[in-house]
Amino acid sequence: MAVHDRYVAVNGDHPMGPDDEAYVREHFVPATSEALELMLADHLPLPSYVLGDQTPMVPPAHGELAEVAGGVERLRRWFVAFWPDDPATGEQEWVHYLSGQHVCLREVTPVRIRQRTERIAEAAAALDLLRRDPHDPTGRGMLGEAVDGVLGVPGLDTLLLPMTAYDRLRFGGPTDRERWVDGPRAEFLTPVPPVWPLRTERLLLRPHEPGDAEAYVEAWASEEWTSLLLSRAMNRAEVHEMVRRRTQPGDGRFVGLVVEHDGEVVGDSMLHLQGTGLSEGEIGWTVLPQHAGRGFATEAAREVLRMAFEHYGLRRVVANLDARNERSAALCERLGMRREVDRVADFWSKGTWTSSYEYAILRDEWRAASA
Ligand SMILES: CC(C)(COP(=O)(O)OP(=O)(O)OC[C@H]1O[C@@H](n2cnc3c(N)ncnc32)[C@H](O)[C@@H]1OP(=O)(O)O)[C@@H](O)C(=O)NCCC(=O)NCCS
Repeated sequence: MAVHDRYVAVNGDHPMGPDDEAYVREHFVPATSEALELMLADHLPLPSYVLGDQTPMVPPAHGELAEVAGGVERLRRWFVAFWPDDPATGEQEWVHYLSGQHVCLREVTPVRIRQRTERIAEAAAALDLLRRDPHDPTGRGMLGEAVDGVLGVPGLDTLLLPMTAYDRLRFGGPTDRERWVDGPRAEFLTPVPPVWPLRTERLLLRPHEPGDAEAYVEAWASEEWTSLLLSRAMNRAEVHEMVRRRTQPGDGRFVGLVVEHDGEVVGDSMLHLQGTGLSEGEIGWTVLPQHAGRGFATEAAREVLRMAFEHYGLRRVVANLDARNERSAALCERLGMRREVDRVADFWSKGTWTSSYEYAILRDEWRAASA
């Protein structure tokens, strides 16, 4: 009862709905009576939630930190030591930890508490930059790291639990995930396509339609034409299925386009948005054999680069190719891309270890070349 009163004093008295209860049962466990004693002695955090039947619920690893610290009476000193240059903040964090209100964190540890603070500050600074210029490369990098993380740095999507409607009531606003993951993702990390079609001097570029499949059947049946692609040759049904998939709505990161000349399909082009803050794109292309050698792939790719940099605001575009694909490498060179990587026998394709190239171009380089 005493624990319940403390809990209400900290969180207020708000109703828990059935969805809240189901969520809490999924992510939290009932506190032991021993833990309840330690809460009243200010040695362990108060419950994260109290269910309608008064069951106090705590994170699954509630008492583990005390063990790591070498005993419950050492926990506070151990905890505060994670802020060696700023003991006042360490003490504040300890009080907040004891309040049981770190319910947004998947793992309630000082390391995660610090990471959450840092990533939220980073997200806030990134949003500031991006609201001034949605294509700001620093803003994109920071937001990507804050939300999705980078190698060695977990992002908020990994650190935070979903939380509940009850949390909105007790904290008086959107949940941390809504504020720092879902909101920024929807605003800046969800690609919005340009208005179709795109037009160049001779070509029209547009998303796939089911009726496009037949145009590709012959080329995809050819072992020779597909030999340097990652995919193997495909029969008619497989080509129709590939095109059908491309007509389905996705997350907007894969932009697959039909290239038309005078109403006839002459090839395709693609841009795959990826990387930290979705600020990099991988470009790809094919031209049907009967339309090769007329500069169609080059003209389409130039337009895809323009779309990548001007519309999607990318910072960098790369192309990966089989090193034996001389025509594709020549195309990269024509586009002003730089061969940055020359990998030897690095990937397995169609029964053999083959070498590959990566070409790249930065937005600033593309701008300078297009000026
Ligand atoms: C890679 C691929 C798209 C290159 O096709 P391509 O015909 O060489 O490229 P383009 O359509 O841009 O045509 C360029 C050629 O047309 C010539 N050309 C003619 N008119 C032109 C024009 N107006 N503008 C530019 N080039 C023109 C160029 O000189 C060049 O010919 P060259 O290489 O003999 O000098 C094609 O070989 C292909 O689809 N291969 C199979 C699938 C594949 O491997 N895809 C790439 C995977 S990484």
